[in-house]
Amino acid sequence: MKGLAEDAAKRILDKVKEPVSVGMVLGSGLGALADEVEDAHRFDYSDLPGFPVSSVSSHASELVVGTLMGVRVAILAGRVHYYEQGDATVMKQPLATLKALGCDHVLLTNAAGSLREEIAPGELMLIDDHINWSGRSPLIGVETDDRFVGLTEAYDATIRANLRKAAESVGVKLDSGVYTWFSGPNFETPAEIRAVRILGADAVGMSTVPEVILARWMGLKVGAISTITNYGAGMTGNELSHEETKEIGPIGAKKLIKVIRAYLDAMA
Ligand code: HPA
Repeated sequence: MKGLAEDAAKRILDKVKEPVSVGMVLGSGLGALADEVEDAHRFDYSDLPGFPVSSVSSHASELVVGTLMGVRVAILAGRVHYYEQGDATVMKQPLATLKALGCDHVLLTNAAGSLREEIAPGELMLIDDHINWSGRSPLIGVETDDRFVGLTEAYDATIRANLRKAAESVGVKLDSGVYTWFSGPNFETPAEIRAVRILGADAVGMSTVPEVILARWMGLKVGAISTITNYGAGMTGNELSHEETKEIGPIGAKKLIKVIRAYLDAMA
């Protein structure tokens, strides 16, 4: 695995020359952030060793490397989800490549359903912690003792504080809470939503958690933000749909782009 990531990173660095300090993974409807990158070099996942290809209609499959607000970034525009192949390790190679490119931290983004009335569709939620409702781990099968990864500080406190400051500086409301990973691709039932609300969940989604576990295992620090596209199943009279995720996603995406730009600006 490590060899493949280094091969991919070498191929990328041969083109982009300068190493990278921040990695990102873009969720549904967030592709616009990759278009903001200056001096962008784009790599199709299919040209990078070990990279998977997404089958989700709202996801591109490109690694975009360049500069954003004066910071060297590598953006995975398009994640591949556990539910596509039933493989929780599917983002291992892309994340290992971000690390091999020089990243010390990653910002993960996703679209999610809100379980709190006061966090409305079109708003953002900073992830403070998670519940792994799927019961899957991308580290199953790892045979070394480093598989016993501590997740007490999975979402880095300094990154969270800096994201909060960034949101404040651009006037974007940023709630924070617990994200719960359901495997998908089906949406949840109202009973499942009621259950996880009782357990302390604030948002639900079908991604991110396996990436957090992989990133922590690799020694990458993590920050993560959800764009809220809907309320959880049964909280309103409406059926959920991927169309809704795609329609509402861009509203939150605009806010998220502002927050990430401010975050990087303060880093530069
Ligand atoms: N559930 C799971 N994943 C999601 C949702 C949801 O309500 N909204 C966007 N992604």
